[in-house]
Amino acid sequence: MDKPRLWLQLFEREAQQGLGRREQLCASLRQAMHKGELRQAERLPASRVLAKDLNLSRVTVEAAYAQLEAEGYLRRSVGQGSFVAFNGFTSEQRQAKLAVAAPLSLSERGQRIVAGGSCEDPQLPLPFAAGSPDLRAFPVQRWRQLQARRLNGPQGHQLLGYGDPQGRAELREAIAGYLRQSRGLRCDAEQVLVLTSSQQALQLLASLLLDEGDRVWMEEPGYRGAATAFAAAGALLQPVPVDQQGLQPPGEGPSPKLIYLTPSHQYPSGVALSLQRRLQLLDLAKRAGCWLIEDDYDSEFHYDGRPMPALQGMQAEQEPGRVLYLGTFSKALFPSLRLAYMVVPRELIAPLRVARSVQDGHSAQLAQAVTADFISQGHFAAHLRLMRQLYRQRRELLLNELQSKVGGWLRPQPSVGGLQITALLPPGEELRLTQRAARLGLLTPVLSGLYLGPLKQDGWLLGFAALTPAEIQAAVKQLAKI
Ligand SMILES: Cc1ncc(COP(=O)(O)O)c(C=O)c1O
Repeated sequence: MDKPRLWLQLFEREAQQGLGRREQLCASLRQAMHKGELRQAERLPASRVLAKDLNLSRVTVEAAYAQLEAEGYLRRSVGQGSFVAFNGFTSEQRQAKLAVAAPLSLSERGQRIVAGGSCEDPQLPLPFAAGSPDLRAFPVQRWRQLQARRLNGPQGHQLLGYGDPQGRAELREAIAGYLRQSRGLRCDAEQVLVLTSSQQALQLLASLLLDEGDRVWMEEPGYRGAATAFAAAGALLQPVPVDQQGLQPPGEGPSPKLIYLTPSHQYPSGVALSLQRRLQLLDLAKRAGCWLIEDDYDSEFHYDGRPMPALQGMQAEQEPGRVLYLGTFSKALFPSLRLAYMVVPRELIAPLRVARSVQDGHSAQLAQAVTADFISQGHFAAHLRLMRQLYRQRRELLLNELQSKVGGWLRPQPSVGGLQITALLPPGEELRLTQRAARLGLLTPVLSGLYLGPLKQDGWLLGFAALTPAEIQAAVKQLAKI
């Protein structure tokens, strides 16, 4: 092949990669040297000649040559020209390239994390994806106003900087006030940590409080996100059955180090932890010195009266607290806000601040500031009132539609709130029915996946909150085809 065509071919080989022309030329020359197509001491065409062959400007070719000289690929001397200086790989380097790459090896902790499986939420609110709020009903205009006001305000630049690992004081104040008033918590802003998600809270608590082999009681069925966080820390998960009064503590056996609970609205059964069980668990925590995690993930959305006050507020004032309270804005505002919070006993504040700073520093400052304004100016309460009304109607509609259009094979379970209902399926039918629903364009998260032990119930979680009435009707119509 004549030389000008060779140069053109080398150059065009790199042409698709979206690089600038100078970078393209550098890349093709480097690659030709690595492949041995250009050998050491070979003379390159003068920049004027190459520019003409490749239809480039001479300045571009000069710049590419200068770049390759700086990288050690070319040697240039005035009056003599540009020569390949690259000597190929040494024989050791060639051997190393040929050798089989060492297999990717994860640590034991890494293997545990992967074995637990991911806990991703659906990115599109397909019917009936569970746990999604209605984002189309979010007051975006108000949010935009508050955000602009903050950014344009006197502290605007400060919001672009690094922040407090524990969270902005104004947001912690707003959260503490909201929780004291609406959930009966006994806390002040000092005990609040602002985080990215409840999942982060669970990870932080698992890494700070659990050693390998520590026993953790888990509600059965229960929340996978919590199970994966504790399993990743090497904990021994003990599934504890849930009945109509919530988690049913075993009468005997070793005490746990930690108990994970969703007391106001058990996930996924929807039952509330009874007063008697609450007292029993608080007593156990005090005597055995174990931690109680209270994940209050959706208490904002109770439709038949108010939820029971939080377990956290039932602790005796004079005793050191044992309850670690978690809440999230993922449902009450919107999931991509990535803001959640944890209320902890005072002795855990300092260790958690350190652990959080080591993990990811802090939560986004602007989002925290706007959320604080949204709460303190009354928009949060108004938004919740509206959403509660909307979701209550949607839940009623879904239950009515299911009752009138879907046969007796699907049995919705009673529930006082939340963004989804649980419905039982005939035993052994879950996989087949889920596959049929998927073919009809429906997402029906399975109940059996929420059990740790071998005894499972077949069923679905059916999200309704994110769907308009017309979408609920259309989705149930599809379901009825099964
Ligand atoms: C029991 C429970 N806790 C926590 C969460 C999620 O909260 P976050 O998005 O803040 O991790 C969910 C989400 O569905 C949940 O069901």
